[in-house]
Amino acid sequence: MRSIAIINQKGGSGKTTTTVNLAAALGERKRRVLIMDLDPQSAASLWLGIKNGGKGILQVFTEEGDLAHLVQDTGVPGVEIVASSQWLIGVEKALLGKPGGELVLQEKFRDYLQGNSWDYILIDCSSSLGLLTINALAAAKEILITVEGQVLALYGLAHLLQTVDTIRGRLNPGLKISGVLACRVNQRTRLALDVVEKIREHCGKYLYKTIIRENISLAEAPSFKLPVTQYAPRSRGAEDYRALAREVIRQEKRRVVYEKEKN
Ligand SMILES: Nc1ncnc2c1ncn2[C@@H]1O[C@H](COP(=O)(O)OP(=O)(O)O)[C@@H](O)[C@H]1O
Ligand SMILES: [Mg+2]
Repeated sequence: MRSIAIINQKGGSGKTTTTVNLAAALGERKRRVLIMDLDPQSAASLWLGIKNGGKGILQVFTEEGDLAHLVQDTGVPGVEIVASSQWLIGVEKALLGKPGGELVLQEKFRDYLQGNSWDYILIDCSSSLGLLTINALAAAKEILITVEGQVLALYGLAHLLQTVDTIRGRLNPGLKISGVLACRVNQRTRLALDVVEKIREHCGKYLYKTIIRENISLAEAPSFKLPVTQYAPRSRGAEDYRALAREVIRQEKRRVVYEKEKN
């Protein structure tokens, strides 16, 4: 089982879009996927038609709440979800200053998710590096960083990579970067292509070959409560996320997940 936290502390970089559509595209390829929505704004849950995930998700973090019974079906083949709810907002406060507060999810993964038959757990993180996101980084085996293919997108990246290094040192030594994904790239503008080149210079081999192009179907799909692979199966958005799923699956076969080189 691969568990991948989808992160970037910048809002609008494509985390939720990537979580939902990569999950659906992996599902098309007969993988069993669990989405874990760890963003109190619940965008991934709402996208998949789940209005209120309830209080259970808060209890997972603050009490002896069981993770496994929060799993719901999404109607998307192969894809289940642990939904978010507004109750998640309480987690930051509840865990603040609590010894081991960063490791709650790591323990729950160990207690409740081992032995389950998911091939992938994709964690949709919020756009902050608060305790919820730290919990995701401590619990996951890998991270996928989404980077918006526009100016300024790179500035936060160095900070993010530093945070990942700190997490490795303190909470999760095995954490690997599965890849950096350029999202929302408008291939008609020189600027966007330059930004992708910059990301490549910066991230080298971490950059996924697949580039997610700007595509209107991706922005429309949430209103229809469907992943793009079902809402507009022939769109560029669907094509791109299917290509990403193939690339992610190739990593699985080669068992190659990039380790950050120490320099
Ligand atoms: N490739 C894309 N093409 C067009 N719109 C996109 C694309 N990726 C994301 N969006 C839109 O950009 C906004 C932010 O994306 P989202 O995935 O919610 O980012 P995050 O979860 O990182 O905040 C959303 O309105 C989404 O519909
Ligand atoms: Mg989001």
